Amino acid sequence: MNYQNILFEVKNRIAFVTINRPDKLNALNHDTLTELKSCFELIRNDNEINIVIITGAGEKAFVAGADISELNKLNEADGKAFSEFGQEIFNQIENLNKPVIAAVNGFALGGGCELAMACHIRLASEKAKFGQPEVNLGIIPGYGGTQRLARLVNTCRAAELVLTGDIIDANEAYRIGLVNKVYAPEELMSKAVELAEKISSKGQIAVELSLKAIVSTDDLSETDGLKYEADLFGKCCGTDDFKEGTSAFLEKRKPEFKKK
Ligand code: COA
Repeated sequence: MNYQNILFEVKNRIAFVTINRPDKLNALNHDTLTELKSCFELIRNDNEINIVIITGAGEKAFVAGADISELNKLNEADGKAFSEFGQEIFNQIENLNKPVIAAVNGFALGGGCELAMACHIRLASEKAKFGQPEVNLGIIPGYGGTQRLARLVNTCRAAELVLTGDIIDANEAYRIGLVNKVYAPEELMSKAVELAEKISSKGQIAVELSLKAIVSTDDLSETDGLKYEADLFGKCCGTDDFKEGTSAFLEKRKPEFKKK
């Protein structure tokens, strides 16, 4: 697949997706979102891929938001469709059948912060900066920011960030629970790969179903979530990987998972 605005490669079962518009600080225009959509469709269906790392090209930005030159032209009806299109793609990422790690290498503002929040794990460089500065443009976050930020941190911190448009650094993002870990810029990618390799070495059906159960907590009550967990647990027990994992433990050897 030939992309203009993203880079895509697969190495050792890890897919690397890089938003590649560094001269525009990797701002997400319509074409970039369309490419992301098709790229994540491909990733979903590729059995050779176990996990995804998403990052931004260049030194400065992960993604500095939706493309403001496109935003500027919207009317009320277009605006709703614009928001729904971004939400659809970020939902596709959140509901992917494999984990997605955001390696946040610089500015993650507006749609960039929202993209990072749609990923399952966020690692940040010490140079990363996070924020939802949409109020400065007279709009609200439209790619899931009001919902995911409030769930990830809490409603009062989300309100502070969204209402002020303030930008916070990586350590503050870590302190409030927005990112999992903070690394020196030169370490970020190798740490992301290390984490991806670790997850990739586990039973991949268990990884996929764990993720499904965890992501479902946004929509399900605890009672329904526990029922769902039991269903998925049962599913795991019907797999060869489960027999292999438990047998390997009992036989004191390393398991060889086959995703079956
Ligand atoms: N949409 C479109 N273009 C953007 C952009 C965005 N969200 N963010 C940055 N760019 C472009 C700039 O217009 C500039 O393009 P130009 O060289 O053709 O003029 C280029 O990227 C570099 O950005 P610049 O503003 O010169 O860099 P900076 O280091 O001075 O500032 C930021 C960096 C991130 C603070 C600043 O670019 C910014 O505030 N961006 C918008 C962030 C935002 O509001 N995002 C939410 C959108 S919903």
